[in-house]
Amino acid sequence: MSVERSAFLPREVVERIDALRSRYPTEEALLLPALHLAQNHCGGWLPEEAIEAVAELLHLPAAKVAGVVSFYDMFHEHPVGRHRIRLCTNLSCQLRGAEELLQQLHDQLGVDEGEVTSDGRCSFVQFECLGSCDTAPMAMIDDDYHENLTPARLRRIVEELD
Ligand code: FES
Repeated sequence: MSVERSAFLPREVVERIDALRSRYPTEEALLLPALHLAQNHCGGWLPEEAIEAVAELLHLPAAKVAGVVSFYDMFHEHPVGRHRIRLCTNLSCQLRGAEELLQQLHDQLGVDEGEVTSDGRCSFVQFECLGSCDTAPMAMIDDDYHENLTPARLRRIVEELD
């Protein structure tokens, strides 16, 4: 029945969400995995229609689901690149060259923070401390930490992203 309710998400995504129901005590508890599935389907971000579809499937207010999406960094309300670069610009990283790394990303990718390169490959954001201050400056690219960065090292790492 939930398949008919959610026109925006394809049947396979709805069925995968439905299949998880027995593993979670409440629909609210199912929200994060459901959002992950929806986001994967939508190419790494959650358009408003996807947020509404998940809310409908889980019988939750759309505003509540939107609040969860905006709270967690792992969910995106705007398109992101296939590779997401989070450059730490907090104090330790700042003191050890984060500004130069930021300039390197601007120059190399040709986009501003939060924008996606024209080939859809990369996007970057400045980020709060990622807990790797002793190896500053650092960036998290997708799920990997890259530490003790220099502009040249960062350039090579970004070049090698597919
Ligand atoms: S300040 Fe950059 S990892 Fe902590």
